Amino acid sequence: MYFNIKNNVYHVGNVDWEIEHYQGFKYSTHKGSSYNAYLIQEEKNVLIDTVSESFCDVFIKNLKNKIDLQKIDYIVINHGEKDHTGALVELMSYIPDTPIYCTKNCVKSLKGQFHQEWNFVVVKSGDTLDLGNNKTLTFVEMPMLHWPDSMACYLSGDNILFSNDAFGQHYATSALFNDEVDQCELFIECLKYYANILTPYNKLVTRKIEEILSMNLEIDMICTSHGVIWRDNPTQIVELYLKWAANYKENQITILYDTMWDATRVMAEAIAKGLMQEDKEVKVKLLHLSKKDKNDVMSEVFKSKAILVGSPTVNKGVLTSLASTFELIKSLGFKEKKAAAFGSYGWSGESVKVLNEKLKESGFELVNEGLRVEWTPDLQELESCESFGREFAKSTKLKDI
Ligand SMILES: Cc1cc2nc3c(=O)[nH]c(=O)nc-3n(C[C@H](O)[C@H](O)[C@H](O)COP(=O)(O)O)c2cc1C
Ligand SMILES: [Fe+2]
Ligand SMILES: [Fe+2]
Repeated sequence: MYFNIKNNVYHVGNVDWEIEHYQGFKYSTHKGSSYNAYLIQEEKNVLIDTVSESFCDVFIKNLKNKIDLQKIDYIVINHGEKDHTGALVELMSYIPDTPIYCTKNCVKSLKGQFHQEWNFVVVKSGDTLDLGNNKTLTFVEMPMLHWPDSMACYLSGDNILFSNDAFGQHYATSALFNDEVDQCELFIECLKYYANILTPYNKLVTRKIEEILSMNLEIDMICTSHGVIWRDNPTQIVELYLKWAANYKENQITILYDTMWDATRVMAEAIAKGLMQEDKEVKVKLLHLSKKDKNDVMSEVFKSKAILVGSPTVNKGVLTSLASTFELIKSLGFKEKKAAAFGSYGWSGESVKVLNEKLKESGFELVNEGLRVEWTPDLQELESCESFGREFAKSTKLKDI
């Protein structure tokens, strides 16, 4: 199946309804995904990106139905990651001399992964490829969005930006365009994608978008490599990226905790009560880290102005779910968020100290030294937890929301 997108531009990618995890188990895909590849048929025929290896056979068969492979003049690879290049080896076995247009870093990533000496043509920002019929592709390097090799290209005449991973979302749908899908589902997936993949590159996102906007391109469509094509108000996702890249926060406090015998959970709930007593507006969420999906947890941290983290003391440390969550939080480099720690203990009670250290090294501003309760909280200690919550709500109030 291929779909006409506009004039002589076709979607020749595949929808993956079954995938539950991406990049091994790094990213959960509750709503599946798609690998969007595009074919432009002007005087010259260009294939932009391919698909994951799991769809290699169906992709090539489908492509052959649309075009004689020998008639493909150029292949553009916007990004070397295997979800877009998994079908390349097979495809190139039919058309081994076809030039592959990509960045210098993409030559490295392709050679490193596939060990092939293909006919690479290195392109830089501003380079163009004439397709005839007054259609031109212009390349824009997008280093570290999200790999060193990433780039986008713009088709003048049709005013389409092929942005690859940027502006995408892991979302399987029978629809092609953004205005045809459930908006709530769509934006949950967009935010999760930004939070989990692009947060570390906030500054680069802002700079690159400003650079693209300063080119004054007319953009009728943004064709991403995952999920829907943005055609209705296509730059809405660009504006959202600018907002998200500016150390995004909502009026939300998220409590992340784990527990063995429920004492830390009871603390978490009492703290939540305190937060809500002090601030009727703030959205409070409690997430048991061993029970929740780690990428969904990151979406909530992304939206939060502040987090509270709780763990009992276990062998002088914290439960492993806290340790792995912090590994992820630290790698995403969240900024301008406040935090505090809490936890129950039986004798030595190190968990809060350990959590404080983890919060600090992850870039959070500690608003206090944290709260420890020995064994299960009694009524008085529960009141201390509520009061701790009230104080935390006070010291994290946002002035401008
Ligand atoms: C396997 C295990 C190891 C523990 N190690 C420590 C420890 O090193 N230091 C300490 O203060 N308490 C330790 N404790 C006691 C717990 O911190 C205490 O039972 C606490 O109330 C549990 O909180 P929870 O109900 O939220 O799991 C340990 C408990 C267990 C089950
Ligand atoms: Fe990628
Ligand atoms: Fe991708």
